[in-house]
Amino acid sequence: LASIEFDLTKVADGQQVTVKWRGKPLFVRKRTPAEIASAVRDDNAALRDPQKDEERHKPGKPEWLVLVGTCTHLGCVPTFGGGDYGGWFCPCHGSHYDTSGRIRKGPAPRNLVVPEYAFLSDTKVKIG
Ligand code: FES
Repeated sequence: LASIEFDLTKVADGQQVTVKWRGKPLFVRKRTPAEIASAVRDDNAALRDPQKDEERHKPGKPEWLVLVGTCTHLGCVPTFGGGDYGGWFCPCHGSHYDTSGRIRKGPAPRNLVVPEYAFLSDTKVKIG
C-alpha cells in the first residue's frame, strides 16, 4: 500500500517515532518549543538548501515534523540529538541537520525530505 495512517498520540513531546514507509524509515517527531524556536531563528542563516521552517511543516502545526529518515548524501539513517545544530546527525560521513531537518554542515546536498502527508484529524496523519 502506498499510504499509511499514523496515530500521533504515540509520540510524546520532544520524541520521535520511526515508521517504515515504502521500505524507508520515516521520522515523525513532536518538536519542543525550543526546537521550533531554534529552527525559526535560523530561517535566514546561510542555508545550503534554503527553506523556511514553516515550509517544512503543516500550517499551524509547527510541533509536527514528518521526514524521510535517510541522509540525502548516501542514504544512512541519521540519529537525533547529535551534531552541531541540535537536530539530526548522520554518522556515516558527518552530515549535520538542524531541528527543521535542514542540512547545515557535512557532505549531504539537501534537507531531509518531507514526504507528502496530510492531517486527517488532530491525532492522525496520512502519509503518502
Ligand atoms: Fe549521511 Fe554520507 S550518508 S553523511
